[in-house]
Amino acid sequence: MSENQQIVDEILKLKEQRKAIIIAHNYQREEVQEIADFTGDSLELSREAAKVDCDVIVFCGVNFMAESASILSPDKVVLLPELDANCPMADMIRVSGERKVWKTFPGYEEQPTFVFPHDFTLLDMKEKYPGVPVVTYVNTTADVKAESDICCTSANVVKVVESVDSDTVICVPDRNLSAWAQKNTGKKIITWDGFCHVHDRVRAEDVERARAEHPDALVMAHPECRLEVLERADHVTSTSGMLRFARQSDAKEFIVGTEVGLLYRLRKENPDKVFYPLRKDMICPNMKKTRLESVLRALKEMTHEVKVPEEIRVRAVKALDRMLEVR
Ligand code: 13P
Ligand code: SF4
Repeated sequence: MSENQQIVDEILKLKEQRKAIIIAHNYQREEVQEIADFTGDSLELSREAAKVDCDVIVFCGVNFMAESASILSPDKVVLLPELDANCPMADMIRVSGERKVWKTFPGYEEQPTFVFPHDFTLLDMKEKYPGVPVVTYVNTTADVKAESDICCTSANVVKVVESVDSDTVICVPDRNLSAWAQKNTGKKIITWDGFCHVHDRVRAEDVERARAEHPDALVMAHPECRLEVLERADHVTSTSGMLRFARQSDAKEFIVGTEVGLLYRLRKENPDKVFYPLRKDMICPNMKKTRLESVLRALKEMTHEVKVPEEIRVRAVKALDRMLEVR
């Protein structure tokens, strides 16, 4: 029996004993996706987990996603197998207190001396634009969601921004998602200057090069990419939106403008189609921290529990619920 198989068997046994489910984001390692009860995009997973009858949710993803699961399933134990699996973009905004100065990002060698430019917080921003509604991307911590009017995902940002009863909207924290919303709605968007280092590194030339190499392929891009990339794509959507698009499309070849982990499921679900990464270095190091060993340890030791304080949770869940009401 291979070492991996031994670990998988132990995981399955413990999972039953603990009455646990394992959920994995679409960017997780292949072997982690394989043992998951379900895989999906960042919000889909938390919503699914809330519906399942279980005591424990092992969330293979990054910390803001496990927080969302805790917000939607306050009575379940939510475990994040690797404590430092975080999202640098989510960490670019804070509600109050000292600003965070980023000198380097793991895997962001292109700008080694990048210093995060904000010298204000979300509360400062709300004070600067009184009465302007705040639309917050789900890639944020629970306290940021709690200070927001409504949340959005990469799949529904345009609809959510349109639904807000104001001509001007604050969009946090992703400047690229904000640019996409500005382009596709009639609203004036005030944006935070955050970004995802995995998606923000892609440039228009990358799309042009990939199209030249694969002239029959359709380009799918995640809205965390720059506008110059999104404007050149055939379809802009979330990771699960890409899975749906690839399944339903008659095209046989696709260029995938998101983290390379998605290629595993795209290829598995569409064996007759061909998928190329838009850039091979679109790798999120935080998403790759979780291994089979991490999942086993999480179930053995019940680590690391993610629990959103009730006072924050009740406010954050309102912003998520408002989003879910938008059709
Ligand atoms: P999705 O919600 O599209 O899965 O995206 C999550 C994410 O972290 C993108 O970088
Ligand atoms: Fe965060 Fe980007 Fe990684 Fe997604 S891919 S978890 S937005 S750093």
